[in-house]
Amino acid sequence: MRRAKISIIGAGNVGATCAHWAAAKELGDIVLVDIPQVEGMPQGKALDLFQASPVEGFDSKIIGATTYEPTAGSDVVIVTAGVARKPGMSRDDLININTGIVKSVAESVAKWSPNAIMLVVSNPLDAMVYVAWRASGFDPKKVIGQAGVLDAARYRAFLAMEIGCSVEDIHALLLGGHGDDMVPLKRYAFAGGIPITQLIKPDRLEQIVDRTRKGGAEIVGLLKTGSAYYAPASSTVAMTEAIIRDKKRILACAAYCEKEYRVGGYFVGVPCVLGTDGVEKIIEVELDEEEKAMFQTSVDHVKELVKAVKM
Ligand code: APR
Repeated sequence: MRRAKISIIGAGNVGATCAHWAAAKELGDIVLVDIPQVEGMPQGKALDLFQASPVEGFDSKIIGATTYEPTAGSDVVIVTAGVARKPGMSRDDLININTGIVKSVAESVAKWSPNAIMLVVSNPLDAMVYVAWRASGFDPKKVIGQAGVLDAARYRAFLAMEIGCSVEDIHALLLGGHGDDMVPLKRYAFAGGIPITQLIKPDRLEQIVDRTRKGGAEIVGLLKTGSAYYAPASSTVAMTEAIIRDKKRILACAAYCEKEYRVGGYFVGVPCVLGTDGVEKIIEVELDEEEKAMFQTSVDHVKELVKAVKM
């Protein structure tokens, strides 16, 4: 059987960590790409990771490059190229610089891997996935933003800490954009099948929801020199695995919603079935009035962001 080919554009913290998790899971051959100004850096990281393969026991070819030729015919392309935020910055502050970067990356991806599924990680996520879609001309089902898996992972981690149970037993759903107005749903979070609303008092649950919303900023504040990368990369690789292994996993992703949730043609976080064809289905869950209002606030923010994009 032919091995899958995964290209990762941007060999910085998130990109290199994606390569690490993808190699450890033996998902396929990996190409790490960065800009010519850092010639040697993606090649060095790729060689270093490849040299771990005899120890870890994975068979993946891993190469680094500063051009796109080696990425030709990729099955999945992960876009992490861009600038990360520093303390005091919001994700939205990155919009101008990252729009130019993601546009040029997506054009190259479309040229060299026209049949790929493109996963976008660069921030501000909901606008960057839109830029990647427009610049690539891809079917919107094949351009997907990574945010919901990460935000739900943060929510799940905090809930497990609070309850004192295994993270494996927590399932949670999160809707909306990748910003402070994301919507971690309380009614759709469960610990071992038990609604968390039965296990955690309302005011404490509200604090956990708030910490989840600000989860990225909490890490930026601690690191001071950049933003989170272990959990973002792990989340991106979970999506990559669902696609490459055609697992049909239900994951919250920034997917193109037209009629769905009455969004009207934007990428926002919604539960999706992910498989070989990308977003194979968007699942519409029932929302009460309060949840609908929170979701609408988040969608309105995404629309504002997209309006600010100058391509
Ligand atoms: N093509 C390829 N790589 C690029 C390009 C480009 N046009 N422009 C920048 N890069 C590379 C940089 O050289 C750098 O190596 O992208 C990499 C970004 O890495 P980091 O600065 O370490 O940032 P990281 O933490 O990985 O975050 C990347 O993901 O989570 C988001 O907000 C985050 O937008 C940021 C992105």
